[in-house]
Amino acid sequence: MVQGIANWNTGETQEWLQQYVDDWVAFYRKHTNDGNVASYIPILAEADPDDLGITIIGNNGLSVRSGDTEIPFTLQSISKAITFIVACMERGVSYMLDNVDVEPTGEAFNSIMHLEMKPVKKPLNPFNNAGAITVTSTLPGDTSEERLEPVFQLLEKILGYRPSLNVDVYESERESSNRNRAIGYYLLEVGFLDSDLNATLETYFKQCSINVTLDDLARIGLILANDGMDPKNGEEMMPRQVARLTKVLMLTCGMYDASGKFATYVGIPAKSGVSGGILAAVPPRVRDETMPFTDGCGIGVYGPALGDKGNSIAGTRLLRHIATQWDLSIF
Ligand code: DON
Repeated sequence: MVQGIANWNTGETQEWLQQYVDDWVAFYRKHTNDGNVASYIPILAEADPDDLGITIIGNNGLSVRSGDTEIPFTLQSISKAITFIVACMERGVSYMLDNVDVEPTGEAFNSIMHLEMKPVKKPLNPFNNAGAITVTSTLPGDTSEERLEPVFQLLEKILGYRPSLNVDVYESERESSNRNRAIGYYLLEVGFLDSDLNATLETYFKQCSINVTLDDLARIGLILANDGMDPKNGEEMMPRQVARLTKVLMLTCGMYDASGKFATYVGIPAKSGVSGGILAAVPPRVRDETMPFTDGCGIGVYGPALGDKGNSIAGTRLLRHIATQWDLSIF
């Protein structure tokens, strides 16, 4: 039972809430042994597989932080949600939906197979690599710096500071990019690349290499949970239609070929990345029983040991546990 929930001014955490989350993080930290850090991008293999942390920020200012919450990590595929939002804002939703479909693939995040096998070569969704590279190709501008400027501007508006680019990760990403280059060439061949291939790939490698923290992910999740509005002051960060579409895609495609299971067992729109981050958005729900965060929250999870689908293994299990305990599912 929740007593005396904090407000934005105090930002306080209820002690009992903290105790629960600390216990759950300690328990699920053992599950990091069931996964492995990503190694196909060499620098990501340097992450500590035992790390696990979570930040939850609620609509009313209540927040909880537990575990390894201070470690910065790169957005990786979580950037696909951000660039999709920015591309929708820059080019319009219908233009984007002409360029990329909204169907789950059931294939690995970097699969090229469906591009070859489907009669229409349109990438299946904006969150697998093919669709994300198409989305990045629609960002206006000639250079990667110009294309990323509105991405950084949106992040700065939401986070209150301008995040940095992790140059080491970017270079490592770039040096191990044969598959993404192959996907890029294939998209060029079938007419689903909207601009210069090299500038697009450079932009893609950089967007994946933007540094964030768990608080940042929770804050972005909170804005999405509120259909694009900052609950603190009512300011619109992105159009409602774009926020809602992004959440639909997070639920159906955000965890790759584990999206169905995640929707079934967790039931929260979420987007993962191979650095081990998960961004989750819990909209306000109507519930008989009062539980923490019934009025909505944003969640950031970090756990670099990944399961076989490329999602944080302990992070996913921790989210499932919390969603079950506090009835966070949107269904
Ligand atoms: O395209 C890549 O390989 C990475 N930079 C991003 C992939 C990623 O995060 C997939 N997520 N699980």
